[in-house]
Amino acid sequence: MPDIQPPLLDRLSALLGPRGILTDPADLAPYLSDWRMLYTGRTPCVLRPGSTAELAEVVKLCAAAGQPLVPQGGNTSMVGGAIPDEGGRQMVVSLARLNRVRDIDPLDMTMTAEAGVVVKAAQDVAMEAGCLFPLSFGGEGTATIGGVLSTNAGGNTTVRYGNARELMLGLEVVLPDGQVWNGLRRLRKDNTGYALRHLFVGAEGTLGFITAAVLRLFARPRENEVALCAVRDEEAALSLFRRFRDRDETAVRAFEYMSGTGVGFYARFIEGGQVPLAEPGDHVVLVDLASSRPDAGLRALMEAVLEEALEAGEVLDAAIGESEAQRAAIWRIREEHPEAQKREGASVKNDVSVPVSKTPELIRRASEACRRLIPGIRPVPFGHMGDGNIHMNLQQPPGMDPAAFLARSHDIMETVNAVVRDLGGSFSAEHGIGRLKTDMMEDWRGGAELEVMQRIKAAIDPRGLMNPGKVLP
Ligand code: MLT
Ligand code: ZN
Repeated sequence: MPDIQPPLLDRLSALLGPRGILTDPADLAPYLSDWRMLYTGRTPCVLRPGSTAELAEVVKLCAAAGQPLVPQGGNTSMVGGAIPDEGGRQMVVSLARLNRVRDIDPLDMTMTAEAGVVVKAAQDVAMEAGCLFPLSFGGEGTATIGGVLSTNAGGNTTVRYGNARELMLGLEVVLPDGQVWNGLRRLRKDNTGYALRHLFVGAEGTLGFITAAVLRLFARPRENEVALCAVRDEEAALSLFRRFRDRDETAVRAFEYMSGTGVGFYARFIEGGQVPLAEPGDHVVLVDLASSRPDAGLRALMEAVLEEALEAGEVLDAAIGESEAQRAAIWRIREEHPEAQKREGASVKNDVSVPVSKTPELIRRASEACRRLIPGIRPVPFGHMGDGNIHMNLQQPPGMDPAAFLARSHDIMETVNAVVRDLGGSFSAEHGIGRLKTDMMEDWRGGAELEVMQRIKAAIDPRGLMNPGKVLP
């Protein structure tokens, strides 16, 4: 391990106590690799402060010693955003012990939650108070509030409620010099100069540590309908979305696309993986309708639209969940996609977005281009068609050496991104930049945009101690 001045480690140990600092290699291991196993870093210790004040002291000590820090929440980053580098000097700071919901107010419709609160726990607390915290995605049982805000996570309900940024009213942040900025205001209107709170959302911990946030809540749904549909092609999928939206824009809570290949992986690899369609075909869609009105008539809406689309030949078959359990089982098909892909072998993820109207073209053109690049490659596009974010993932050809396939990752990403660029899209929709995509920043955001980002970074974290090597090239 490179030298960390013993006085710093001693001071951190004295400050945090035995619960607050880990140094045993066996204890460090879970903090050093990401979920995708793209990176394995090294660190002298993991710091686990128990309060904002304690974290502020940690940051002050580390700033004085020029010690780089890497924040970590639930460690579900898809782009290596929360893992230290291989140098062995960067210390990991886990926010897991900052896990209190400080306040919930069903009249203001707000919740003040600390960074380490798990997203699912925030959903449950909101539900108990008769409200909804709508952020929802496969990793919600592990991901934390600090992490989803730092990455501006999206997930399944963006089409209706927006991304994490839109769900945030105020923040508390420990700045790189150890000052605490208390911006925990629960105001719907607050135009008082630069909106600093938005600077930290999506900054992936490169400007400081988000330690708590005021989150927006919504009315709890009283009616919910979920259907799984086999559709004719990509255009038919989008046309179905439009049919629902035209009838009742507020009813669509999620509209998710899946390929037949991905649904096949689910049926094959996930225990109890049942698909309630006789012939799922090549294109499958999940529609989730929800309303806070107890008499919203969502069942009638669902049936009427599906009927219409069946008649138009766009929908080939459909199954509507008849119970909470059936609705959950349909959702499972979509949410287990990343796990099913993992079990099938090596895959390359492309978390991209295009204007919603271009999603069919993206799926088709990117799939064809990748097939030309590597014969036998299996496109597994899936995700949030209703907001334009498709996970344009590619699975290795059957039998190909996984390492040989992964060696082509760069070419595959470039191939997909060429289509994305042509369609006016983004190379990173909801997973962020982390470490994986820093080398694309120059190409995609170079010039004035990147220059301003670099100036902001230099102004707030002049010594570059906050999550070094992430986001900016
Ligand atoms: C998801 O929506 O399941 C993830 O963001 C996508 C992925 O694993 O590529
Ligand atoms: Zn996603």
